[in-house]
Amino acid sequence: MKTMKLGSSNLEVPVVALGCMRLPSLDKQQAERFVQTALEQGANFFEHADIYGAGKAEELFAEAVHMSPSVREKLILQSKCGIVPGVMFDFSKEHILNSVDGILKRLNTDYLDTLLLHRPDTLVEPEEVAEAFDLLESSGKVRHFGVSNQNPMQIQLLKKYVKQPLIANQLQLSITNATMISQGFNVNMENGAAVNRDGSILDFCRLHDITIQPWSPFQYGFFEGVFLGNEKFPELNKKIDEIAAKYEVTNTTIAVAWLLRHPANMQPVIGTMNIERLKDCIQAAEIRLTREEWYAIFLAAGNILP
Ligand SMILES: NC(=O)c1ccc[n+]([C@@H]2O[C@H](COP(=O)([O-])OP(=O)(O)OC[C@H]3O[C@@H](n4cnc5c(N)ncnc54)[C@H](OP(=O)(O)O)[C@@H]3O)[C@@H](O)[C@H]2O)c1
Repeated sequence: MKTMKLGSSNLEVPVVALGCMRLPSLDKQQAERFVQTALEQGANFFEHADIYGAGKAEELFAEAVHMSPSVREKLILQSKCGIVPGVMFDFSKEHILNSVDGILKRLNTDYLDTLLLHRPDTLVEPEEVAEAFDLLESSGKVRHFGVSNQNPMQIQLLKKYVKQPLIANQLQLSITNATMISQGFNVNMENGAAVNRDGSILDFCRLHDITIQPWSPFQYGFFEGVFLGNEKFPELNKKIDEIAAKYEVTNTTIAVAWLLRHPANMQPVIGTMNIERLKDCIQAAEIRLTREEWYAIFLAAGNILP
């Protein structure tokens, strides 16, 4: 698969990342088949979080990939920490360090390529995050760092103390959840799309060489469902199907190609556990939509231009 550099680092990664949040829905045999197919297709970037399946996603992954030092060399592994589900967010030094130890144990590895802070913690003491990152880096447990669901000021606050570059910011972004894009078109207009909900995070990430990793690239709302083939989005599906027919690919491929067409060089994190759809998503790396097609899809989803 086509590759790119993650943020300002030299870490070369495939342009499509595989999210493992839904891995626990597979049994061990299915998980093995899924992971092996991904690797055969060049999709070797696997994205986790300590909370997925309450840790089961990481454990199942390590089993499915038959983790060993020689296998580990072929993988790029990312995980996230900082959420205590239903209780709180926790960016304390102690929590970050303990979480990483748990992640490494479950993944059966001694290092992560990237660690992201999962969701902003308003009680964050950035000096503590900096201490945790220094220890994780010097011990070799984590090679690169990033954030998730953070706005520019939250990132700036961390950057004041953290010395490692923050190379990725994972954010919810899909054709139907594109406020970070539509707001940029509607600056200062008297319409709802002008509302700047995220402090211009798209431009901020481009300016600071932070790769945006769009999560849930097929979902509308907050996990309300998939927009593809959904009767709630007739115009969007008509347009996507028309473009898919032109390129002789599936609608799934076009939905990922739409994200990849943005010059911010995003790395979508896909969540399918279906092998055919996985291949369709990977195929998006081969397609470059025209400017006209990109805009037509954006508008067909109900987004507005002034
Ligand atoms: N940072 C964060 O806060 C955050 C939040 C949520 C997720 N994430 C990350 O993002 C990853 C992706 O999230 P997600 O799973 O919600 O994303 P997604 O790729 O938008 O959704 C995947 C789900 O949609 C289903 N689906 C149905 N039709 C599909 C089609 N035509 N194409 C693709 N999928 C289709 C899949 O089912 P099948 O398996 O049957 O294809 C699967 O259940 C997660 O694994 C996780 O790593 C991060």
